[in-house]
Amino acid sequence: MDRYAIVGHPVAHSKSPDIQNRFAELTGQALAYERLELPLGGFLPGIEAARAGGLRGGNVTVPFKLDAYRWVQHHSERARLAQAVNTFWFEADGVHGDNTDGVGLVRDITRNAGVALKGARVLLVGAGGAGAGALGPLLAQGPRELVLSNRTVERAQELAGRHADWARRHGAQLTACGLMDVAGRFDVVVNATAASLQGAEPPLPASAIGAGTLVVDMMYGPKAEPFAQWARSHGATVRDGLGMLVEQAAEAFFLWRAVRPQTAPVQERLRRQLQASGGG
Ligand code: ATR
Repeated sequence: MDRYAIVGHPVAHSKSPDIQNRFAELTGQALAYERLELPLGGFLPGIEAARAGGLRGGNVTVPFKLDAYRWVQHHSERARLAQAVNTFWFEADGVHGDNTDGVGLVRDITRNAGVALKGARVLLVGAGGAGAGALGPLLAQGPRELVLSNRTVERAQELAGRHADWARRHGAQLTACGLMDVAGRFDVVVNATAASLQGAEPPLPASAIGAGTLVVDMMYGPKAEPFAQWARSHGATVRDGLGMLVEQAAEAFFLWRAVRPQTAPVQERLRRQLQASGGG
């Protein structure tokens, strides 16, 4: 059995082992995917010990995505843009790293929800780690315009600045602003903030959404419900982050095994589990 792991702190509640082990069953791949909790500040010795112990690769979650970015020797372009790594594997020439979060989000929007990003007017709310992972892949779809808004406007400006060439290459107009400086209606809105976790107000003006807007919240479960209800009450169609979670995992699985697992049955299973536990 080839061994992979989700590396983070904490990892007890991570759904990645469920998802990846289910992908392995569905595709007949001989792999075992486990949890690897490393102490805060202890990413490097912990991951190197796991590597020496025969780990083939894995995923990285909070708070180690930046540590992983620094540790990895060969970065994909999207990992470089995000300056964060959520997927790694070992090859003869060293450690390879990628970031599959953004492409997972894009697949959920374009394939699962059937909404085109090309030519669309897109609002990405949040310029933290989650927003950074999403921006490059969203721009690569060639939206007409992408507005990046954030509570701390300087953080949005810095992230947008890092993506300026990338946006030009994909024909997208990219601007950065504060949360309530957002103007006009959008086709697609992605909430990549942690505002729901704090029970905070919706991090955008209601005028940004309406019938015809797809709102994707990267969160899922009970904490994401008030924002979803708010968005629905303004006519928007809402998706939570479960689809993105499964799609980013599928992309990681593909990078390791060169096999693309089916995602729909896995997403349905997670949805049933979430509902059974009273979470939406
Ligand atoms: P993550 O990896 O989840 O993105 P992060 O890097 O800490 O975590 O970023 C959290 C994001 O949520 C940031 O965009 C943050 O805004 P700031 O950059 O201004 O801190 C945003 N955020 C957190 N709490 C918020 C709130 N109550 N309202 C609006 N945005 C909030």
